Amino acid sequence: MAEQKSHNLPAHIGVIMDGNGRWAKARLMPRSFGHQQGFSRMISLLEHAYDRGVKYITVYALSTENLRRPKEELEGLFDLIRKRFLDSMRRVLARGVRLKIIGDLSYLPPDVQELLRQAEKDTEKYEGKGLNVALAYGARAEIVRAAKEAVAAGEELTEESISAHLYTCGQPEPDLIIRTGKEKRLSNFLLYQAAYAELYFSDKMFPDFSDKDLDEALEEFASRTRRFGKTDEQL
Ligand code: FPP
Repeated sequence: MAEQKSHNLPAHIGVIMDGNGRWAKARLMPRSFGHQQGFSRMISLLEHAYDRGVKYITVYALSTENLRRPKEELEGLFDLIRKRFLDSMRRVLARGVRLKIIGDLSYLPPDVQELLRQAEKDTEKYEGKGLNVALAYGARAEIVRAAKEAVAAGEELTEESISAHLYTCGQPEPDLIIRTGKEKRLSNFLLYQAAYAELYFSDKMFPDFSDKDLDEALEEFASRTRRFGKTDEQL
């Protein structure tokens, strides 16, 4: 599909892919089945979003809080990465998308870390489009890390210096954050970057969140007035 040129298209979307576990439970299936379905849905949704002209996407795949989940569930997610990440992502990244894994990778098994770092390297040549996969990620930890790095580099602590040390440095801030799964909160996702993001909540569980649902979120975004603290008259 031709990329859509629109002034009202978000440059950067964040997606909190919530509800995989509940989706599976409703079908009397294990949570890992929900994650597998969620993974397939994520790949198709990413392809659709880039084809519509979105340049940057951040997906929340595992939070630092999620690391406390039963070992079995975490192992299921790591296995999913081992078995399907490279092949499926290749389809998405072939659009000239640079991959970044954001979060504290040291929490992941060494072979998974290695696989993800290699996948990132393979896309280093790309510019202008990006995919951030948040794994073992927490926004507060990201902010603390950025502040520490700025101080270590002898920089004055300012909004700009902190921004420059976030994982997303060099990327536009998210204009739109979508959360599926009925919950209405940010759960430690991109807290610094989301200062002016429009928030969109869907009652659908993530495996049911279709390309058409994304189109609806984009339409709703396009209809909102973003004032960035100004009055209507100043815009
Ligand atoms: C939170 O909802 C979602 C997760 C912990 C995992 C999301 C992961 C994927 C969609 C696929 C995996 C992607 C990669 C890159 C490995 P939940 O599933 O815990 O759902 P619940 O709130 O219904 O329990």
